[in-house]
Amino acid sequence: MAEAPSTTRNPFTHVETPAVGVAVEDLCKSFGTFEVLKHVSFSVAPGEIFVLMGPSGSGKSVLLKHIVGLELPSSGRVTVDNRDAAAEETREQVRMALVFQAGALFNSMTVYDNLALYPREHRIADEAGIREKVMRALQILSLENAAEKFPSELSGGMKKRVAIARALVMEPQLMLYDEPTSELDPVMSATIAEIIATLKDQYRVTTIVVSHDRDLALNISDRVGILMGGELLFLGTPAELRTPTDPRVADFLNPKIDLQNPRFKKLET
Ligand SMILES: Nc1ncnc2c1ncn2[C@@H]1O[C@H](COP(=O)(O)OP(=O)(O)OP(=O)(O)O)[C@@H](O)[C@H]1O
Ligand SMILES: [Mg+2]
Repeated sequence: MAEAPSTTRNPFTHVETPAVGVAVEDLCKSFGTFEVLKHVSFSVAPGEIFVLMGPSGSGKSVLLKHIVGLELPSSGRVTVDNRDAAAEETREQVRMALVFQAGALFNSMTVYDNLALYPREHRIADEAGIREKVMRALQILSLENAAEKFPSELSGGMKKRVAIARALVMEPQLMLYDEPTSELDPVMSATIAEIIATLKDQYRVTTIVVSHDRDLALNISDRVGILMGGELLFLGTPAELRTPTDPRVADFLNPKIDLQNPRFKKLET
């Protein structure tokens, strides 16, 4: 991994810490006989936004889970800040936050308590300090009025933003988002994309985003990877993504709807 060129600025204390890099080296993962990830290698430089795309079931979420140590490689290695991602100590030494695909909020707790959970458990500050951090994170995500609501009272877009706010309260050096714009309308998707880009620009948090959203990849990423059938078929810049050489990648990015498909004909009867 190259020398870290930048630092992460804590959104709350504004203290600067070195930004961290991520390296995935020849990663293979099987569940039983089913090979989900096949020799995947790429690295994300400190302070970079990397967008990982790919069809449903291609292994994107499984790959993210390896980076935060929730899955262990069958072979190969994942490092965060040059430390083994699978090691418990790494999660103590590097602050990383994963925004889960389904939000993973606690339904029995208010938005405020969902956000305060991590700092309370880790005794990061006293209650007044925690309130300040939580309200600041809610403000960044335009959620000040949602603090006392329960997750069941929120729209899908609000839940996504609460999940991001909760990750932000952890003051991460590495942010991972799993499908942050799925199920959102185009305006809300653009807002979430802006938030991700702003967090990276202002705080230089190393960011990995899993998404099907081609516009998001083209607009906010420094580099893009495309995973298909567990293999990384494309690794390059957003500009290179506009002219992919691999036909499988081109088909994924520009799917053609075949109205002559015999399956559609059956629907007409
Ligand atoms: N714990 C597990 N045990 C067995 N199989 C698993 C497990 N986790 C994931 N898989 C399988 O691995 C494959 C990849 O799953 P993954 O969740 O990574 O897909 P994905 O690319 O994130 O898809 P989507 O875009 O639909 O979220 C799927 O076939 C899934 O069923
Ligand atoms: Mg997934």
